[in-house]
Amino acid sequence: MSKVIKGGTIVTADRQYQADILIEDGIIKEIGENLSSDEYIDAEGAYVIPGGIDPHTHLEMPFMGTTADETFESGTWAAATGGTTMLVDFCLPGEDGSIKNAINEWHRKSTPQICSDIGYHMAITGWNESIFNEMKDAVEMGVNSFKHFMAYKGALMVEDDEMYASFQRCKELGALPMVHAENGDIIQELQQKYLAEGITGPEGHAYSRPPELEGEAANRAIMIADAVGTPLYIVHVSCEQAHEAIRRARQKGHRVYGEPLIQFLTLDESEYFNKDWEHAARRVMSPPFRSKEHQDGLWNGLAAGSLQVVATDHCAFGTEKKRMGVDNFTLIPNGTGGLEDRLSVLWTTGVETGRITPEEFVAVTSTNIAKILNIYPKKGALVPGADADIVVWDPKISKTISANSQKSIIDYNVFEGFEVTAQARHTLSRGDVIWSWGKNSTPQPGRGRFVPRPAFSSAAAALSKWKALNTPRKIERDPLNIPSGI
Ligand code: URP
Ligand code: ZN
Ligand code: ZN
Ligand code: ZN
Repeated sequence: MSKVIKGGTIVTADRQYQADILIEDGIIKEIGENLSSDEYIDAEGAYVIPGGIDPHTHLEMPFMGTTADETFESGTWAAATGGTTMLVDFCLPGEDGSIKNAINEWHRKSTPQICSDIGYHMAITGWNESIFNEMKDAVEMGVNSFKHFMAYKGALMVEDDEMYASFQRCKELGALPMVHAENGDIIQELQQKYLAEGITGPEGHAYSRPPELEGEAANRAIMIADAVGTPLYIVHVSCEQAHEAIRRARQKGHRVYGEPLIQFLTLDESEYFNKDWEHAARRVMSPPFRSKEHQDGLWNGLAAGSLQVVATDHCAFGTEKKRMGVDNFTLIPNGTGGLEDRLSVLWTTGVETGRITPEEFVAVTSTNIAKILNIYPKKGALVPGADADIVVWDPKISKTISANSQKSIIDYNVFEGFEVTAQARHTLSRGDVIWSWGKNSTPQPGRGRFVPRPAFSSAAAALSKWKALNTPRKIERDPLNIPSGI
């Protein structure tokens, strides 16, 4: 069975043009004018874009004494209805510490549930010989990126020497190290200080995680990656201090990537000062939302290319779970949501305002991350041979975001009341139309697939070559010119 997406304007990361797309067996077969087929998908008056890739989610993740509520089914489904056709979820080791077991556990949970494709990143939460060994297993299992938490002291946090060792291992394996950049030691000190002063509400979360702590950690992680000679991906960049570190590193030729979140681009720290405890607690995540000046900086980074990816860090805890921290902000499970609304909010606040172009929108929601994660052009591209993960993106459908009508199973939405001006008219996952606006589309759990990602992206290979050419070398000297020891 073939089908043709007809009459739309194709938008890729580098251009816009009018053409039809012929799909066969889940793959883009041909792009051209007046293509014909057995079945047509109407794209008249709409854009046709590569399906969104959200590279940062935590579905059903055990964290801070509880488990994130969004499931693999509800998460992949909600994402698809918003135009996102692939998620990359963070896999955490269980009590036995095994990486292999953790990946298998993630497969066990996700396989029967996923409605569209997923990949995983693996978290490195300590350092020992079996972690060293099992990182290779992870790469062989198609997981080629490893996240290091510089925060969450006493839980997930790793020290600098552990990061150095793990980055080194990433380099050998051709995998990408990632960091959560915040100084966990100082956060813990500030948390105790504000609690002692009687600041127990969610505002204490923001006060105890100032942007300087994120900037310091970003600089430190960049320094470690450079000492090792590996590219580095910095997740959830929220502030100018971290952005500046990334920008400066990139100007010096370091291969460092930065990922702001849609929340950081549109919501600010005043949310934590809301008189309604639940309103504020629902928005507690790390790093926290920042001021408008930081937001402007992140937008500028997307336009300038110093930041490459817009993600969500979707880690959604229902209000009941947020109440665990009612007397102590350090016990509020950290995480917010956004995977359903990432594209429409970015389009409305970015493209409709002229902050970014439609091509940049495609780059930061899909193409750039597909390249960084080494799955391009299978994902993130509209070219013959690519997976037909395609969205017919209608810039004339508007809606008001509300928890009452969302597909996510959470009882609130941090974008509640936002008017968005574009929506997915159709979402295709490997050629199947899995969502159509206004039709009674239903989730199809189990049809999604795990996407293994090969190691050694060309950026990693190029950097290794450059570092090898420029590595410090021993200076050979004539023994006669070396003074003898005493
Ligand atoms: O608050 C957050 N970001 N929760 C999810 C875990 C993480 O740090 O990414
Ligand atoms: Zn430390
Ligand atoms: Zn994090
Ligand atoms: Zn996260």
